[in-house]
Amino acid sequence: MIDWCKEMLGFPAGASGLLVSGGSMANLVGLAVARSATVGFEVRDEGMQAAPQAIALYGSTEMHSSLQRAVEILGMGNRSLRHIPVGDDYAMDLRALRETIAQDVASGIKPICVIGTAATTNTGATDPLAELAEIAQQHAMWFHVDGAFGALAALSPELRPIVDGMERADSLAFDLHKWGYQPFEVACTLVREPKAHKDTFALTPDYLRHATRGTAGGDLWFTEYGIQLTRGFRALKVWMALKVHGADKLGRLAYQNVDQARYLAWLVTESPHLELLAPVPLNVVCFRFRHAGVDDDRLNALNEELLIQLQEQGIAVPSGTTLHGKYALRCAITNHRSRREDFEILVRECVRLGEALTAGEPAGHQA
Ligand SMILES: Cc1ncc(COP(=O)(O)O)c(C=O)c1O
Repeated sequence: MIDWCKEMLGFPAGASGLLVSGGSMANLVGLAVARSATVGFEVRDEGMQAAPQAIALYGSTEMHSSLQRAVEILGMGNRSLRHIPVGDDYAMDLRALRETIAQDVASGIKPICVIGTAATTNTGATDPLAELAEIAQQHAMWFHVDGAFGALAALSPELRPIVDGMERADSLAFDLHKWGYQPFEVACTLVREPKAHKDTFALTPDYLRHATRGTAGGDLWFTEYGIQLTRGFRALKVWMALKVHGADKLGRLAYQNVDQARYLAWLVTESPHLELLAPVPLNVVCFRFRHAGVDDDRLNALNEELLIQLQEQGIAVPSGTTLHGKYALRCAITNHRSRREDFEILVRECVRLGEALTAGEPAGHQA
């Protein structure tokens, strides 16, 4: 199973891998290895209090919150995680990254890890991964890619260029319960250097001693590559899906979702009542209802209510987010059963609900 993942994503055959419950866990595993491989002392024995100098990790302001949580859990402290600004495309601004690293180095801080995202949660933006790989190499940093969503775009020949550079990661986290179309819970972490991976987690108490035969036989023990000992057989469903459908079909479905996202974005831009709030590089569409003369604060409240009504009336289940202070209806399209007509209904209903909500607008709220 792990071998298939490596092959599908262009990772070297010698890399190690672990199936975990979700992208958050996969990120935690990746950053745990990053920490022990780069801090330059025996962090498992000494803890971070032994650090001879402050350390820094770098990700964009759009990186997923699970990475911040991983940094916290690993005792590296929130302040060591730099949130690098993004450009209009919501991808990391490389100039800001280089400047921040230079300032840290000048202040005696050790850069240890750069985190790139393949498809951010908010907008589906992908950081310039090949450039991040270069920068990581220049500064002897670990390169972690959070591909929770975007990694499996690599299965589609049309989408593959978007995530180019991902295969240069030292660790790559990705979900199979997102664009792998698997039921919850299954995700994966791949680590380029298996020794670094095992050195981060392996513990061999007497009751877990390897044997040459019997139930304790076999060299590969997944407990030595992650946090869990007792584990479910997550690989089975993924293996079966790949056997039945094949990776090409998953890639075709991912592309179908992206095509639907583009269609939805087009419907939004065609409607005088709706406004697209971010570019649509993959399968996430962020938009809002708008109404002439209604200010941003009121539009935010109105769109929040509109979202809840969409959900409560059983019409559609977008989520919500805020982009540059504007509340957005966020559609992350990942269902292999979605059809173009679904998005036509969504747009029609957003306009209907939005118009009903603005019809009752008190005059004092008008700009
Ligand atoms: C970019 C990104 N990283 C990490 C995660 C966390 O994944 P999970 O919900 O599987 O823990 C998500 C979830 O949406 C995500 O979009």
